[in-house]
Amino acid sequence: MTKTMRAVQYSGYGGGAAALKHVEIPVPTVKKDYVLIKVEAVSINPLDWKIQDGYVKHILPPRFPHIPGTDVSGEVVSVGHGVTTFAPGDKVVGCLGTFGGGLAEYALAHISTIAKRPSGVTALDGACLGEAAFSALQSVRDWAGVQLNGSKPKVPMNVLITGAGGGVGTFAVQLAKLGGVHVTATCGDGARQMELVKSLGADEVLDSKAAEGESLKSPSGKKYDTVIQCGEYMPFAHFKPQLSPSGKVIDLAPSPKSMMSSATSLASFSKQKCVPFLPSTNSTDYYFLFSLMQQKKLKTVIDSQFPLSQAEKAWAASMTGHVTGKVIVTCTEHS
Ligand SMILES: NC(=O)c1ccc[n+]([C@@H]2O[C@H](COP(=O)([O-])OP(=O)(O)OC[C@H]3O[C@@H](n4cnc5c(N)ncnc54)[C@H](OP(=O)(O)O)[C@@H]3O)[C@@H](O)[C@H]2O)c1
Repeated sequence: MTKTMRAVQYSGYGGGAAALKHVEIPVPTVKKDYVLIKVEAVSINPLDWKIQDGYVKHILPPRFPHIPGTDVSGEVVSVGHGVTTFAPGDKVVGCLGTFGGGLAEYALAHISTIAKRPSGVTALDGACLGEAAFSALQSVRDWAGVQLNGSKPKVPMNVLITGAGGGVGTFAVQLAKLGGVHVTATCGDGARQMELVKSLGADEVLDSKAAEGESLKSPSGKKYDTVIQCGEYMPFAHFKPQLSPSGKVIDLAPSPKSMMSSATSLASFSKQKCVPFLPSTNSTDYYFLFSLMQQKKLKTVIDSQFPLSQAEKAWAASMTGHVTGKVIVTCTEHS
């Protein structure tokens, strides 16, 4: 096996796409409970460039130089001591978390963060999952309480998904509809994105740049039991008039401003709450998502695809904050 690999890294906070450098560095050495993956594709998440911006610098500061990239798919090429559940040749997907490492030809992954990719789920599909799909699944199922076991809700449930055309939103709309709830969605970027979100199953789609989208009012007058907030920050007070008496806002992008909003709502006597959300990586959820994809109940939406040699273009596309679905980088030999 080759001793060096191509990778993309940055050496300090800030700088956006222009600060990404293409390097040739040693292939990482596999260690206990890890596998080495030959990366086929990796998706770019807002978390990637938020880490570069210093978003987690007080809790999980990256070591520089840092190779970003969390959500990968590829093939296991070697396994570390103690690994019995994966073997070279296995096709896998992995969610590497804030440690990153995915924007490279080879990446290390802890066995708790990977799953075997079945037939019917392509490498590109696999790279789209991870952060975005876990966030969608866990916010819809675990926080909104939508049953995804084929049963219909016992009482009608209304969900609003903001930023529904993005990486998380496109999964969240499909999952919420699978659970049989009424979905209102907001998205911008014109008719194309609104049509897409409708085609994913949303019952009502609002243009986030128009007055009705800004007000978040459901055209059919529904009050929301849950808001899955994937769009830009909005104060909790803005959501309150549209919530049911015990409605809650699940805040997918906790920031100091939104944490204050959450803390105030949690301390109040009102049953309407705003709750910060963090997803957890686990293989069980990967296998659940795979089974939905194999049954054609869940699909990925790819905004754009770039070779590793043009990773900065993918980074810049994600940084616009206005993507439709996922931005992908392919990392195979000639890309
Ligand atoms: N808590 C976590 O661990 C976690 C995990 C995953 C994601 N997230 C966060 O969740 C958010 C969504 O993630 P993502 O992967 O879906 O991001 P994304 O793919 O970049 O999509 C963001 C979406 O937000 C929409 N948007 C931007 N400005 C908006 C506005 N003013 N009003 C309404 N919508 C707006 C964009 O739609 P338009 O182009 O139509 O404006 C875009 O479709 C990000 O902030 C991300 O950091 C958090």
